[in-house]
Order: sequence, then structure tokens, then C-alpha cells
Amino acid sequence: MKMTPNNVIIACDFASTTRLFEFLKLFGERRPYLKIGMELFYAAGPEVVRELKQEGFPIFLDLKLHDIPNTVKKAMAVLSHLDIDMCNLHASGTSEMMRAAVEGLTREDGTRPLLLAVTQLTSTSEQRMHDDLLISGKMEQVVIHYALNAKNAGLDGVVCSPLEARPVKQACGNSFLAVTPGVRFADSLNQDQVRVTTPRMARQMGSDYIVVGRPITAAADPLMAYLRCLDEFNGSV
Ligand code: C5P
Repeated sequence: MKMTPNNVIIACDFASTTRLFEFLKLFGERRPYLKIGMELFYAAGPEVVRELKQEGFPIFLDLKLHDIPNTVKKAMAVLSHLDIDMCNLHASGTSEMMRAAVEGLTREDGTRPLLLAVTQLTSTSEQRMHDDLLISGKMEQVVIHYALNAKNAGLDGVVCSPLEARPVKQACGNSFLAVTPGVRFADSLNQDQVRVTTPRMARQMGSDYIVVGRPITAAADPLMAYLRCLDEFNGSV
């Protein structure tokens, strides 16, 4: 039997562990990939990550580190001991910071969680990038430049808009990962996401993993919504 890849990451944007564990009960024995972000991590601490790992859930810890190289290296060493599967940082912290992060994240046996770079946040418009950050050039150019820096520093991929997945892969190679949020079903509301794609379109545009929050967490039947995402993204419907 062909196994469906565990490539739909549920964004667990809950304010408490009580809500999180109520939600996860709906999944029975299934172990979907979970994204834990700042909200839950700052509220519940590393203990929630240990508990989820003990129960067998793959974890993307979305803390977007950005600091001096030595601080990021030491923080990454702590995260790698949490036994997470994926984490991230801001590429704007420089190549030196990214290399330090890889070093810190690598365990004594040479293994490490996947490490992704945030290039430009999708909430930053090209205009704002020019005026506020004084970064000139086209958004796509900047995203590709940061993605290449990340690749050269030894990272595994980027978090980006599905619209950027193809150009990033053309520049960095097909095995360089594109993890993409902003996913909605064709028949649902966009909420506050502006440039959205369906799971099927995200796959066609080159995404390796999709990050899906409210279309699953706020669905009347979250398990059904999750299974639908998996099916659409993996091309079985
Ligand atoms: O509920 P929704 O599907 O919009 O959630 C998407 C998740 O992906 C949220 O956790 C959000 O913070 C995250 N994200 C995003 N856009 C980015 C980076 C992360 O929506 N550019």
C-alpha cells in the first residue's frame, strides 16, 4: 500500500495547551505534522513540545530566530535537544548567523532538524521593503538572493509564498524545500490571507509542505478537513 506523505503541517495557533489537546483528540491515533508558533510556545514553554514529541507528533517549531550569530547558535543547540523535526530563522540575520545556526543545531551524532529560512515575510509589501527597510530591487530578486544565501549556509529550504516556490527552486535546486502557508480550499473564505492557493495549486506551484491553520482548526470537522488537504495536496483527488 502506498503511504501518504506527512506533508500537510497543521498550524496550531491556540492560546492554551488545553485547547490544543482537545483539538488533537479528534485525530485519534493519527499523528499529523504540527506547527507550534510563538503564541503557544511562549504560553506553554518547551514542555508542550516534549509532550507532543513523546506522543509521536512531528513538530515544526516556528520561532523565526534572528540575533547575533553566537546567540542563535546557542539557542539552536537548545532546540535540537528538544528533538523537533523542523525550525526556522530570518535570512536577514546574515549568512554568518545562518551558518552559526546550522552548527548549533547539529547534534553530536551529526543529525539535526530541518532548518528553514524566512526570506521576506509575506506581510511585507515591495513598497514597504523599499521605504521602510531601504532594500531596493524587486521582491522576487530579494527572496531569491536570501534563499541562495540560506542554501549556501547549509540550510534545507525556505518558508515562502507558493508564488515564490518555483523561482526559489529554479535558483536553489529542486531538493531545496519550499514550505508554504496561505492555503485555502476552493470553496472557503480567505479570512485575512490575501494571496491564497488551494492545496492542489500549491503542489503544482512546487511546494513540498503546506502549512494550514484555520481551514483545519476552525472547520466543523477538522479531521475531515485535514484528510481533504492531504488528498488534494498529494494528488489523489
Ligand atoms: O490560519 P492560516 O491557515 O492562515 O494559518 C497560517 C499559518 O502560517 C499561521 O500560523 C501563520 O502565522 C503562518 N504564516 C503565514 N504567512 C507567512 C508565514 C507564516 O500565514 N508568511
